[in-house]
Amino acid sequence: MARIIGGIGTTHVPSIGKAIADGKQNDPYWKPFFSGFDYVHQWLAREQPDTVVVFSNDHGLNFFLDKLPTFAVGAACEYRNEDEGWGIPVSRPVPGDPALSWHLINRLVGDGFDITMCQDMLIDHAVTIPLSLMWPDFNWPVRIVPISINTVQHPLPSMARCLELGRSVGRALVSYSEDKKVLIVGTGGLSHQLDGKRAGFINKAFDTHCMDRLAHDPEALAQYSILQLVELAGAQGVEFLNWMAMRGAMPGEVGELHRNYHIPISNTAAATLVFENRPRAQRKAA
Ligand code: DHB
Ligand code: FE
Repeated sequence: MARIIGGIGTTHVPSIGKAIADGKQNDPYWKPFFSGFDYVHQWLAREQPDTVVVFSNDHGLNFFLDKLPTFAVGAACEYRNEDEGWGIPVSRPVPGDPALSWHLINRLVGDGFDITMCQDMLIDHAVTIPLSLMWPDFNWPVRIVPISINTVQHPLPSMARCLELGRSVGRALVSYSEDKKVLIVGTGGLSHQLDGKRAGFINKAFDTHCMDRLAHDPEALAQYSILQLVELAGAQGVEFLNWMAMRGAMPGEVGELHRNYHIPISNTAAATLVFENRPRAQRKAA
């Protein structure tokens, strides 16, 4: 049985990749953000996950506006990164876990999720930056299963649907026969808007509300419509959908272990959250 050790939510702003490449982690602008990962490094060194299921949104490297799957699951042996034009180094390829991918795909389709299955998939900054933040020596000791959620072209899947997608992934992981430790990651957000009249929009009160409820009351967040989410979190703050899926994929008792929130990184409210997922206490037979 796969054991879901917990979940990490993290911002994926491309300029973080440039700061890493330029060694700016201790600069006054960057330190409050990067130091939020000290706890993450200690926790990962202790927990040692084998595979990471990453919920993120593609930014045009795989899918563009002409063809944009709502949910796409990677089933590749290896995932390459390519130059996205941000001026950050191209990352090394990351090994996949195709057997686990196909198990998830089978269970998701069985649960009524009409996903797109991708035996060939590139990973963009929404995957490579979180990996670089979690394992800064670039020796990423994990396999990945990337799951891409459309946060770009409307209509977007709802908050409730993304929570359910995560729950289906969580059930599939629990039913997987191989012994392995799985970490769930959701990337992007929090509040930000990159263009239009509200460019630069950040909403600390709403971000705090979302972070406060994610562990124990994700259903409350699932009530927000996409239009409300755009209004409250910004046009690109809808990347929080990836965090909803991450939360859904933890079926146990979920507790918050660590939080960092820093404004701004570029035009974005940068957040890092670590959750543990403890097996639910067995109910004693009467
Ligand atoms: C930017 C890009 C992103 O993908 C994101 O999530 C946040 C910010 C940017 O270009 O600044
Ligand atoms: Fe993004």
